[in-house]
Amino acid sequence: MDRFLIRGGKPLRGTVPISGSKNAALPILLASILTDEKCFLENVPSLRDIQTVIRLLECIGKKVIRTEGAVEVQSQGKKLAPQVPYSLVSQMRASVLVAGPLLARWGRACFPLPGGCAIGLRPIDLHLFGFAKLGAVIRHRHGDIELTSPKLRGNRIRLPFPSVGATENILMAAVLASGTTAIENAAREPEIADLARCLKQMGADIEGAGTRRIRIRGVLSLRGFKHRTIPDRLEAGTYLLAAAITHGQVRLTRTDPGPLAGLLKKLRRVGCRIRAEKKTGLSLSAPKILRATSIHTRPYPGFPTDLQSPWMALMATARGKCRIQETIFEKRFLHAAELQRMGAKIYVRKDTATVKGVPQLTGAPIMASDIRGGAALVLAALAAKGTSSLQRVYHIDRGYEKMERKLRKLGALIKRIRQ
Ligand code: UD1
Repeated sequence: MDRFLIRGGKPLRGTVPISGSKNAALPILLASILTDEKCFLENVPSLRDIQTVIRLLECIGKKVIRTEGAVEVQSQGKKLAPQVPYSLVSQMRASVLVAGPLLARWGRACFPLPGGCAIGLRPIDLHLFGFAKLGAVIRHRHGDIELTSPKLRGNRIRLPFPSVGATENILMAAVLASGTTAIENAAREPEIADLARCLKQMGADIEGAGTRRIRIRGVLSLRGFKHRTIPDRLEAGTYLLAAAITHGQVRLTRTDPGPLAGLLKKLRRVGCRIRAEKKTGLSLSAPKILRATSIHTRPYPGFPTDLQSPWMALMATARGKCRIQETIFEKRFLHAAELQRMGAKIYVRKDTATVKGVPQLTGAPIMASDIRGGAALVLAALAAKGTSSLQRVYHIDRGYEKMERKLRKLGALIKRIRQ
């Protein structure tokens, strides 16, 4: 297992290009199951989760060709196997997004029920609720879920909570159902709008993706696609926070400032100067003293839960006291204990952390427990006095393309130790 050795205290300076969005690329690659035609996706980041989804597609019978920055999915002219192995679902929960397209295209999907993970219980009841509304029969067997339906029928589906994964899975199931489906209280994340853009290119009839109500009129069949993934707003946000915590000055390219509005507003309150440049550039210049600023996580367009942990790292070094409330995942505070090892003053009670900024964090041996929590620890280590050794970098590799290389280009003293 690789680790990062990070010597902190150097302000980040320079330009960093933002990669394609992991969370958009994953469902879009799985949408290739909906057709036998060739599907081509550009701006795909090189990440462990992308490798996992490629293995998943190969495992059910697709041929996948990976080139630099792009993925092509082809049909092998045979029926796809509806069974997803546990080894893949246990590595990446988003593997359950295979269910909607398999059910829609082949009338059957069988996959292991994912267990809880480091950040919460993460049930999939809302996905199953949606499939049942479309007429699927659901059976639980020895830890597996089996979904069957010779023909799905459109329906009105009101989600009790705007789950990102459930919205995507139901959307992909509904595009080939007979009749009209309305998903109400749908998630509005930009990754859902990107998936819908791609599905529409395939011939799907979808209106309202990116709003609370998505209307889908089922079609008989879908074509292949050539699509370019949107920029990763979570990676972009992480680099802005890295610039802020090191009192640096960083310019992002190949990004989209629009979906970052919630974060940018908070960063301005902290005291950062932010400037959008043309359509795809964004630069941040951080002050010497950061002002403590409270946040609470909410579904999009609220403050993203994925940036809660890097925000906590930033607040650990800000002047004053603030509150961080996590309302999406019930256990997403594991990074707090690691930050405390670096000298942070954080008190967690139920869903709220109170952070009292300290003038200086100190380097320490620390351990990542999930993708974003790992990124938070990298940020803290970049700001800390002395050297930190960060274990379990594989979590970070799931979601950040070439993180240490990008940070080194910005002047960070970070090194990967292969073990
Ligand atoms: C996606 C993102 C993840 C992000 C999250 C919230 C991907 C691959 N991952 O995850 O980075 O942190 O959105 O923005 O896109 N829930 C249920 N029942 C369900 C489904 C969800 O109770 O059937 C709960 C979850 O336990 C969680 C909350 O709803 O507490 C949000 O989950 P959801 O929006 O589904 O997140 P994911 O799609 O798993």
